[in-house]
Amino acid sequence: MSFKITKAVIPAAGLGTRFLPATKAMPKEMLPVVDKPAIQYVVEEAVAAGLTDVLMITGRNKNALENHFDRVGELEATLLQKGDIERLRKVNYATDLAEVHYVRQGDPKGLGHAVLRARMHVGHEPFAVLLGDDIIDDRDVLLARMIEEQGLRNATIVALLEVDPSVVHMYGVATIEATETDDVVRVTGLVEKPTKENAPSNYAIIGRYVLQPEIFDILEHTKPGKGGEIQLTDALETLAANPSIAGGVYGVVFRGRRYDTGDRLDYIKAIVQLAVERDDLGPDLRPWLKEFAKDLK
Ligand code: UTP
Repeated sequence: MSFKITKAVIPAAGLGTRFLPATKAMPKEMLPVVDKPAIQYVVEEAVAAGLTDVLMITGRNKNALENHFDRVGELEATLLQKGDIERLRKVNYATDLAEVHYVRQGDPKGLGHAVLRARMHVGHEPFAVLLGDDIIDDRDVLLARMIEEQGLRNATIVALLEVDPSVVHMYGVATIEATETDDVVRVTGLVEKPTKENAPSNYAIIGRYVLQPEIFDILEHTKPGKGGEIQLTDALETLAANPSIAGGVYGVVFRGRRYDTGDRLDYIKAIVQLAVERDDLGPDLRPWLKEFAKDLK
C-alpha cells in the first residue's frame, strides 16, 4: 500500500570535528553557505518535495538551530522600524517554512542512532531523512523522485552518486543491479566506508533516504560498526539482504549538483559555485574570480 509521505527527519547532532574550532559552540549545519545556514537549504528542499513536518535531531549546540527557525521579536521590530522590509521578509521566511520539531540525541553514537531517535515522532509510516550538511542544488530534482519511487515500489530508497573510486572510503557503497528504469537500480548489498580494493562499486550513498518504518526495529538491533558508531548503512544492508522484510532497497541515481558542506574543501567550493550564479553577487564576483585565478600557480 502506498502512503503519502509528509515527514522529514534531519539529523544534525554530529560533532562536526572536521570544522573545529568553528563548530565548538555551533553545529556545522549552521555554517553559512553564502548568506543562509546549510540547514535552511535542506529544510527548503524538504518543503519543496511536499514534506511539511520536519523533525530535527539535535546535539549539544541545539540552541542556534532552534533560534534560527524561531521568531526573533527584537530583530523583527528593528527591521520593521527601519523599513527594511526585504530583510524582514528573509528573516520571517525561515520561521514560516515548515513545522519544525526537535528531539535530542544525548550522545552522538552515529547516524543510525540519530535516526532511531525519530521513532516516536514518525510512528509506523515511511519517512524521508535528509542530512543537514548535504545540499542538493534546487535546480536538480532528487527527493521528489525518490518519494515517487517509494510509492511505486513500497521499498526503501537511497540516493546514489557515481564517485571517483579514489574517494569510496568516505561513503557507504552499494552493490547494484539494473532495473527496467534508467535512473533506478536495485541495491543488493551495502558496505560502509570500504577501501578502494574492497568497494563493490563506485555508487556511493549521499545524504537523502526514504525509509520504511521497519528500519527502527533493525536499528534497535544494529551493533556499533565502523568508527564504533551505529551506522545507518549497516541497518540498510540488513534490509538489502532480506527484501522480504520491507520490500528491499533501491537506489535513485543522482546526476545533478550536490555540495557536501561537512567537508572543508567542498564547503568552500559550494559557496563559490552558488555565489557566482546569484544575480546579486555573481556580476561582481565572476570578473574578480577570473582575475584572481589568472595569477594562481
Ligand atoms: P558526519 O559523519 O558527516 O558528521 O555525519 P560528523 O560526525 O558531525 O562530522 P565530522 O566527521 O566529525 O566532521 C553525517 C550526518 O549525520 C549527523 C551529522 O550531524 C551529519 O548531518 N549525525 C552524525 C548525527 O546526527 N548524529 C551522530 O551521532 C552522527
